[in-house]
Amino acid sequence: MQFEGKKGLILGVANDHSIAWAIAKQIMDAGGECGFTHLPDRPDDERQRNRRRVSQLTDKYENAKFLIPMDASKDEDIKSAFDHTAKEFGKIDFMLHSMAFADREDLKGDTVDTSRDGFKLAMDISVYTLLACTAAAKPLMNPGGAIATMTYFGGEKCVPGYNVMGICKAALDATVRYLAYDMGPHGVRVNALSAGPIRTLAGRAAGVEEMLSMYEHMAPMGRNVTHEEVGRTGAFLLSSMSDGISGDILHVDGGYHAMGSPGRLLDQLKK
Ligand SMILES: NC(=O)c1ccc[n+]([C@@H]2O[C@H](COP(=O)([O-])OP(=O)(O)OC[C@H]3O[C@@H](n4cnc5c(N)ncnc54)[C@H](O)[C@@H]3O)[C@@H](O)[C@H]2O)c1
Repeated sequence: MQFEGKKGLILGVANDHSIAWAIAKQIMDAGGECGFTHLPDRPDDERQRNRRRVSQLTDKYENAKFLIPMDASKDEDIKSAFDHTAKEFGKIDFMLHSMAFADREDLKGDTVDTSRDGFKLAMDISVYTLLACTAAAKPLMNPGGAIATMTYFGGEKCVPGYNVMGICKAALDATVRYLAYDMGPHGVRVNALSAGPIRTLAGRAAGVEEMLSMYEHMAPMGRNVTHEEVGRTGAFLLSSMSDGISGDILHVDGGYHAMGSPGRLLDQLKK
């Protein structure tokens, strides 16, 4: 049980398809205790849909210890989430950052047309929040602890349609390297998991549907990756099994990132 006696925070579960939930399940099944945050509900939403979608999941797990609202674009929300964590857990051993957002309009057109406001919003929620949450976690993290975030290949190469989110992921990847340096002396590792396309809320907005069949044809493994595969590698990065790895980007994409040509997709194109 790799996570026996370990406690940590999971930021970014929206529903049962969320990558953060796939990772959290692996951690809890391996004995770890998790605290969760959810996107706050609008005050006029009597049904509290955001909270309910997550509590339906966490209620079934004894090792899901608390669920609190946090809008990561608000400093006061981050502070109260980490104050709550300190009260419940004292120290923590891991933190998963699995949050991103961009205005749909900025993912529809050309990257060149991204608005200043859309750029700032996407960068704030998808990148700055990793800095802010790591800073908030720093006094709580035990030496030997780990932080992981979720990235995508569109930050390394141009993936048409991923647009401003690709620019955010490039910045996120760089943030991981700088945070790994800052957190190293505290005994804390920082890494990113680069997942292939997965059907989730955020994934759909970023054009996952079109990517799935391309990956199936181009990836060396000849198929897409599953929630469980991404979940296991996320848990690995947050566990002591990866204790020599920091500042890295680990791809869970069936090998797609290693290709320099369309590979087997060429056969189809020839036809
Ligand atoms: N789905 C994919 O194909 C894929 C591939 C590679 C990387 N990723 C990354 O994985 C991460 C998780 O996305 P997902 O695919 O699980 O989708 P998801 O929609 O389930 O998760 C995105 C999360 O971001 C949260 N979020 C957005 N704005 C927020 C804010 N202001 N404050 C707090 N939380 C906020 C949402 O509530 C949600 O929980 C993202 O960083 C995404 O870019 C996804």
